[in-house]
Amino acid sequence: METFTDSLIERERVPVAASQQTARKPAALVPIREIGPRYREHIARHILALDARDRYLRFGHAAGDEQIRRYVESIDFKRDDVFGIFNRELELIAVAHLAYPPEMAQAQDSRAEFGVSVSGHARGRGYGARLFERAATRAVNHGMKTLYIHALSENTVMLHIARKAGARVERDGSESQAWLSLPAGNFRTWLSELLTERVGRADHWLKREAARARDALEIVQEIGDGVREAAAARQRTGS
Ligand SMILES: CC(C)(COP(=O)(O)OP(=O)(O)OC[C@H]1O[C@@H](n2cnc3c(N)ncnc32)[C@H](O)[C@@H]1OP(=O)(O)O)[C@@H](O)C(=O)NCCC(=O)NCCS
Repeated sequence: METFTDSLIERERVPVAASQQTARKPAALVPIREIGPRYREHIARHILALDARDRYLRFGHAAGDEQIRRYVESIDFKRDDVFGIFNRELELIAVAHLAYPPEMAQAQDSRAEFGVSVSGHARGRGYGARLFERAATRAVNHGMKTLYIHALSENTVMLHIARKAGARVERDGSESQAWLSLPAGNFRTWLSELLTERVGRADHWLKREAARARDALEIVQEIGDGVREAAAARQRTGS
């Protein structure tokens, strides 16, 4: 099986059990873009909208609203990388956090830790897997040797994504740890990241312009309605 370390862009599809299959067809091209601190509120909104089960899977415990807000506030955008996928309304529907704990960055075997969430209605389209690839490529380009994932053992989807990429998974009761050995960065990994980011930014720009055009159209329609109502009122009063 071709894994992430064999190919950073194209990966073979591995069959999952019928019960695990999702109805939707994964999107061929997923526009992912890197996001900075000005998206903190968007990130908070996305995570706060996750239900109790998803919060449990994402954080390993039933994180309350306050804990989620503290987590989002604590994201160090200068050190870590955060990637997002936006819908047409420019709401974040998927977020991945690639964390570089200081002690790990200093270590010989430098590791980055991956965490992700996809909004319930946007699952099964390949967003989780694409975000994993995107983060792994960034980790490669940052010279990381390992991508680390801490997940609950019951989190079959996350562990499937990690295993499929070639990660070694070790189960310790209710928790599992996955390590993906990363290859050294090269021109291809650098180019892959550059192109993916360009696509993500272009997509975001198009969505923003489309939203502006929709807003402008609404204003024009409101003005038109107002003019029509005023004309009708004048006709009624005969003025
Ligand atoms: C884990 C999560 C991010 C996956 O996101 P997603 O966008 O639905 O995943 P994808 O569509 O990329 O699917 C990835 C793979 O899992 C498979 N899969 C999808 N849904 C599945 C399910 N319910 N059970 C098992 N496998 C499933 C897909 O078929 C795909 O495999 P394939 O590439 O071999 O076809 C998402 O379920 C989520 O946000 N869960 C809650 C938070 C969480 O668990 N985060 C991870 C902790 S770090």
